[in-house]
Amino acid sequence: MKLLVTGGAGFIGSNFIHYWLKNNPQDFIVNLDKLTYAGNLENLKKIKDNPNCRFVKGDICDGKLVDEVMDGIDIVVHFAAESHVDRSIKSPSIFIKTNIIGTQVLLEGALKRKVKRFHHISTDEVFGSLNLDDLSKFDERTPYNPRSPYSASKAGSDHLVMSYFYTYGLPVTISNCSNNFGPFQYPEKLIPLAITNILEGKTIPIYGDGLYVRDWLYVEDHCRAIDLILSSGKIGETYCVGGLTEDISNLDVITKILEIMGKNKDCLEFVKDRMGHDRKYAINWSKIKQELGFIPEHDFTHWLEQTVKWYEENETWWKRLKQDEFSNYYKEQYNDL
Ligand SMILES: NC(=O)c1ccc[n+]([C@@H]2O[C@H](COP(=O)([O-])OP(=O)(O)OC[C@H]3O[C@@H](n4cnc5c(N)ncnc54)[C@H](O)[C@@H]3O)[C@@H](O)[C@H]2O)c1
Repeated sequence: MKLLVTGGAGFIGSNFIHYWLKNNPQDFIVNLDKLTYAGNLENLKKIKDNPNCRFVKGDICDGKLVDEVMDGIDIVVHFAAESHVDRSIKSPSIFIKTNIIGTQVLLEGALKRKVKRFHHISTDEVFGSLNLDDLSKFDERTPYNPRSPYSASKAGSDHLVMSYFYTYGLPVTISNCSNNFGPFQYPEKLIPLAITNILEGKTIPIYGDGLYVRDWLYVEDHCRAIDLILSSGKIGETYCVGGLTEDISNLDVITKILEIMGKNKDCLEFVKDRMGHDRKYAINWSKIKQELGFIPEHDFTHWLEQTVKWYEENETWWKRLKQDEFSNYYKEQYNDL
């Protein structure tokens, strides 16, 4: 089988390529990635000589290139996106371009080349925000209510994907997943930012009161969920994917990291809140459990410890990323903390 993976040099995409080639060594993967600030071929160093993986540097908005790389592809797994909410607040237009227009260009290419499956990776953020005391959870029937330019652009891309199913009969599936963590995550995101700041002896910025609740899933579990959807998911369906954490706030997550790394709360620095900060996401993943047998295998606390260990052992990987572009972004975002 021949797969086109978009955004395969990013966090989840690179984990997915490792996962897929390990479990399906006979398959061939074309990895189309623009190598934005978040794309990093170091993530794929271990498989750089694998003849079954070809890297193509390019933009998913480039219709001509997309048409070329789509030739002979059976399955598209579409990860490529601008993915950081904070950056979407500062510069929304690139989110619209990549996440909406780029997705439409890929859909057009997939339709023309008659791919057997177009799987779109999306987020639980499209469903909006819950109150802290709200015990309900998002599921596949929850109406969309995105509240940041990032989540609005992902919502737009989800709608386009479904429109290609209903209008043109393109065989699509979508997964809406909660927050991922694990190796190769760019250090702007909460968990790697906290771990690497501690390793550098810096404070950890916490937005507002820190009581922002997310659901957390170890990235390999997300890869397995995608695998199950590709093999047994129903065409035209959406699957919500989530982890095993219950009502855990950002402050709880950071406190756990402090404990793992033997630090105390002096390392915390409460900073001005993110604009429009969504209070809570919670996801009900019973559909993928019942229909496809998905259950996360990675316990949060243990795999958070493993993730800390990974960042401790891969200092050269993240230290390089924290220079240049990142350091300018960090200064601007956190007022020179
Ligand atoms: N990280 C999470 O917790 C999470 C949770 C749910 C869903 N998602 C979704 O999963 C996908 C991957 O997220 P991630 O965290 O790995 O993101 P990431 O930012 O780490 O990686 C994104 C990748 O896409 C590439 N890219 C960006 N613009 C491109 C373009 N125009 N053309 C080609 N490549 C381009 C980047 O170079 C990078 O390699 C995204 O669609 C995101 O919305 C992420």
